[in-house]
Amino acid sequence: MERTQVAIIGGGPAGMLLSHMLHLDGIDSVVLERQPRDHVLKRIRAGVLEHGTVKLLRDVGLGERMAREGHAHDGTWIAWEDREPFLIDTKRHTGKQMWSFGQTAITEELYRVRARDGGRLIDDAGQVVLHELTGDRPWIGFEKDGAAQRLECEFVAGCDGFHGVSRGSLPGELLRTFERAYPFGWLGVMSETPPLGDIMYAQHRRGFALASQRNAMLSRYYIQCDLATKLEDWPDDRFWEELKRRFPPDIARKIVTGPSIEKSIAPLRSFVAEPMSYGRLFLAGDSAHIVPPTGAKGLNLAVSDVFYLHRGLVAQIRRNDGRYLERYSETALRRVWGAERLSWQLTKLLHVFPDDDDFTRRVNLNEFDHLQASAAAQAALAEQYVGLPFEDLAANP
Ligand code: APR
Ligand code: PHB
Repeated sequence: MERTQVAIIGGGPAGMLLSHMLHLDGIDSVVLERQPRDHVLKRIRAGVLEHGTVKLLRDVGLGERMAREGHAHDGTWIAWEDREPFLIDTKRHTGKQMWSFGQTAITEELYRVRARDGGRLIDDAGQVVLHELTGDRPWIGFEKDGAAQRLECEFVAGCDGFHGVSRGSLPGELLRTFERAYPFGWLGVMSETPPLGDIMYAQHRRGFALASQRNAMLSRYYIQCDLATKLEDWPDDRFWEELKRRFPPDIARKIVTGPSIEKSIAPLRSFVAEPMSYGRLFLAGDSAHIVPPTGAKGLNLAVSDVFYLHRGLVAQIRRNDGRYLERYSETALRRVWGAERLSWQLTKLLHVFPDDDDFTRRVNLNEFDHLQASAAAQAALAEQYVGLPFEDLAANP
């Protein structure tokens, strides 16, 4: 039997960041992770950080590698078939920059600092079940090396991603879910080639494409694909050819191709679970919500949930002030829905849907032309893309 103040289910970026931030405030936690550590550290995910995410990571001592390997951007481009490319100019409209820095590197950094600081992480933990969440002393049952174990705690953080067990621990009559599935996926390639100078989304009649990056010699590219797409049908040459067809020719010429070091297909989904808390259980990150990757909000939302949850747990545990935890779900959800709306809108604007008709195409084109022409529309998009601010309690007393 083990005891801790906060039991954290899931050792992805949400769980590990929360564990690290609680440690900085002298609060003990144990992370239970279903997968072996190597598996978690190898996963490749998105890599664009909002201004607020960058600031928070710096504030908690995780800025050094980001400064060395990451890259600041004044904005992100949208290339539109026959139009001039458009810059979502976050620097100009908000004074803020975003950063390219991969989630894989952030996860490595979190595992490094937790190991350095003596953090307790139990990986390969099976059969995790949450108990007595509405009492004062919740506990977690799990299996490690074939033996049943028990972890007692004061609070539970459900950071176990979309396929975790925490969300299902809310009673069915309380839990509401909201969902959109999209009829396509993204085929992604990582290559050790110099990236384009900026991040660029491309709208094209053959489908969406994206040029992104991790560092000076690591590029990340994606193309929209059918859900039935098989990786073996996409050797590197075919991928590069299709990618280049979807960017304007002068930009396609600048794309440096090379052997892929990773290739994968991800489906697109919008999903929100409400509420994000139940008794002493608090959901954070992908366990409570999924966004399609258009807009790169997934990791940033996990970070803002952790910001709110850490603040609430510190206030409760150290000052016996429950106001933040009581409002955790509603506060976190306001920001979640902001990102859900943006990523849904950008997904609709930039992708080709099987049932698109001429009306939809005209409306989308008009939205793009309006963006090009209207400083107000540009400012509104930039404000959401760069990330909405973290709320203080005073904003909604
Ligand atoms: N018990 C313990 N751990 C579990 C369980 C379980 N039953 N189920 C899942 N997990 C673990 C997963 O193995 C994973 O390591 O929880 C972790 C959840 O991590 P993520 O899926 O990375 O979710 P999160 O930490 O919320 O980070 C969100 O990841 O998916 C991206 O776009 C998303 O960038 C965002 C970020
Ligand atoms: C990425 O770099 O992987 C990336 C960038 C922008 C997105 C999604 C993913 O919108």
